Amino acid sequence: MKNTVLTLQKQKEEKDKIVMVTAYDYTTAKIMDEAGVNTILVGDSLGMVMLGYEDTLSVTMEDMIHHTAAVARGAKNAFVVADMPFMSYQTSVYDAVVNAGRLMKEGRANAVKLEGGVDFAPHIEAIVKASIPVVAHIGLTPQSVNAFGGFKVQGKDMEAAKRLIEDAKAVEAAGACMVVMECVPAKLAEKISAELAIPTIGIGAGPDCDGQVLVYQDLLAMYGDFRPKFVKVFANVGDVMREGVKAYIEETKAQTFPAAEHCFKIDDSVIEKLY
Ligand code: KIV
Repeated sequence: MKNTVLTLQKQKEEKDKIVMVTAYDYTTAKIMDEAGVNTILVGDSLGMVMLGYEDTLSVTMEDMIHHTAAVARGAKNAFVVADMPFMSYQTSVYDAVVNAGRLMKEGRANAVKLEGGVDFAPHIEAIVKASIPVVAHIGLTPQSVNAFGGFKVQGKDMEAAKRLIEDAKAVEAAGACMVVMECVPAKLAEKISAELAIPTIGIGAGPDCDGQVLVYQDLLAMYGDFRPKFVKVFANVGDVMREGVKAYIEETKAQTFPAAEHCFKIDDSVIEKLY
């Protein structure tokens, strides 16, 4: 069954945890979809885990559209959320609507995600008015890494915790259909999840959010450059890939691959007449 804004909302009401995972291409999206995730995020984390940048700032609209379209082709049931990249919405409400529209029209996303709280409520409201579902992202917002001075837990003191609650309420009032909370103390995330009517999706925000999201290269141990504290490795796919490729190298060099069953046949008479 296709996951929609309505089914995701119902999951919150029925206390059925929402599972979100990232994907950036057709094959991976299809595997995630077949595994049964509720929603796939085409995160701008693709800048780091797919393109090898040190942060997400260089990701373009063209990158996001290209990868979102591939994921949308592979995701039959999962609700596809596409990240709005850095400077595709911060510049104006008008740019926010135009670029959100491109992710829906050219990328075939089911919703867009943007980073920010109170300050971006007008942007969210305008996108929602254009009939585009918006997932907000508050707490540690990686596009603001330079303003934050690094990747740090957010909302730890009284002032910061109050600001985070205000951000969460502002994005809900603006019409967001879900909110991602990144690197937020677990008890604060629990309080926000209880106060909001829309689902909260946590990443480094404890077990009481309405759902969880992880970058797939993190949960499958495929990206070794950096592993945040909140990541749990569920399978060592990186090791399985390395072993598989090593075996391919060994067999190619030993000439045990390709074997007879991997070869195409031709009549000896044809070969003989060639000489
Ligand atoms: O870009 C991304 O993958 C994200 C998740 C970490 C929430 O925003």
